[in-house]
Amino acid sequence: MSFSKDFIWGSAAASYQIEGAWNEGGKGLSVWDLFCEKEGNVYRGHDGKIACDHYHRFKDDVQIMKELGIKSYRFSFSWPRVLPQGTGRVATAGIDFYSALVDELLEAGITPFPTLFHWDYPYELFCKGGWLNNDSSDWFSEYTALLVDKFSDRIEHWFTLNEPQVFVTLGHINATHAPGLELRKREVLRVIHNVLLSHGKAAKTIRQNSKRDTKIGMVPVCRIIVPADDSEHNIGLARKEMFTCGDLDFPGWSNTWWLDPVFFGKYPEDGLERAGDLMPQIGPDDMEIISTPLDYCATNHYHCVKVRRDQHGNKEYLKPQIGEPLTAISWPVYPQGMYWAAKFLYERYKKPIIIAENGMSNRDWVHGDGKVHDPQRIDYVRQFLKEYRRAADDGVDLAGYFYWSIMDNFEWAEGYKERFGLVHVDYQTQKRTVKDSGLWYRDVIAQNGENL
Ligand code: FCB
Repeated sequence: MSFSKDFIWGSAAASYQIEGAWNEGGKGLSVWDLFCEKEGNVYRGHDGKIACDHYHRFKDDVQIMKELGIKSYRFSFSWPRVLPQGTGRVATAGIDFYSALVDELLEAGITPFPTLFHWDYPYELFCKGGWLNNDSSDWFSEYTALLVDKFSDRIEHWFTLNEPQVFVTLGHINATHAPGLELRKREVLRVIHNVLLSHGKAAKTIRQNSKRDTKIGMVPVCRIIVPADDSEHNIGLARKEMFTCGDLDFPGWSNTWWLDPVFFGKYPEDGLERAGDLMPQIGPDDMEIISTPLDYCATNHYHCVKVRRDQHGNKEYLKPQIGEPLTAISWPVYPQGMYWAAKFLYERYKKPIIIAENGMSNRDWVHGDGKVHDPQRIDYVRQFLKEYRRAADDGVDLAGYFYWSIMDNFEWAEGYKERFGLVHVDYQTQKRTVKDSGLWYRDVIAQNGENL
């Protein structure tokens, strides 16, 4: 089977990781601006002040996307760039920037597929308690309403949040991402509820106010549990583990804690038992708002864990094998994870699947011949896409795929060390060089994946 003829072939990036221009156009500070200021937080003290200077170079970048035949571009809005205080006063220059970007994309025949929030939270709202504040979902819907008002004449597709699991866990429990907090479980449960409510209010705001027909998704990064082999009992075990609130992953990484409220309108029973009296107050309409219908079940997917029953019938998570293939950031390469991700999520939530991010970091550089040869990345994407397509053979509705990332960028706490791009960026000169993988991806898109 091949990909459907309206399959969305895209590539992604996010505001803080590429835009730079951290203090231009009246932009307010984000928690990432602050987080980078503290020594030891980010590799070699890197920050996103200049990044890929996309704010000034977006026209050239869109041109490159056009040349690569990218059909959809997943970018994110920077909340403090358009609302410096998070609410209230609008920064016109910020709106103008995104407006020009959207126009440029449409002119190039590229569908804008924005994410409302990809981690650069307004510092001024953080000072009011951020996601702990029970007004936070209203702040988010005010922000959403502004974007819908300004852009829904031209934008049909919206993603609400990127990887809430990560910004909650790394940012609010482990302190390895902005805003660098180490909250207690009671607070984390409250943060999660406010984040889910923000998603729901945003989805409702888009549905109610959009000037065009619209399609909406949220972008979690699910914890993908795969069977160690194809035996029925291990497949069943993996499926069960993937949709259980387990000891280790609750609540930040539990798939069902995040997704059951969104798709079924209720928190899972096993999670509620674990949460006990630490649960926050749930308003009478909250679950209805959180489960505002979506068009997609999207997820980002990079890696997975394998599970099986050992000879005594005990559940066993497989340890990494010595010498297993790893990307430069040390994430294991296991393409079959993509098949199971699509299959398990579709079975449970029954919505068209979008892989909103997948890709690999590699130690790329510009070779002596002036090109960037990255055969590992080509092989990685080919294998993952083939596994993805295999899910379609099982009847899974595959709506789209976004390669992460269109260009090398600021990889959060890893700084500029990790290069995920289809386009190489020389951060000294801002010169862009399309990598071999970019040219290869162009052909994949042109042939709708027939040549994989
Ligand atoms: C995801 C993030 C994205 C990027 C990739 C490599 O967790 O959503 O911004 O950092 O990982």
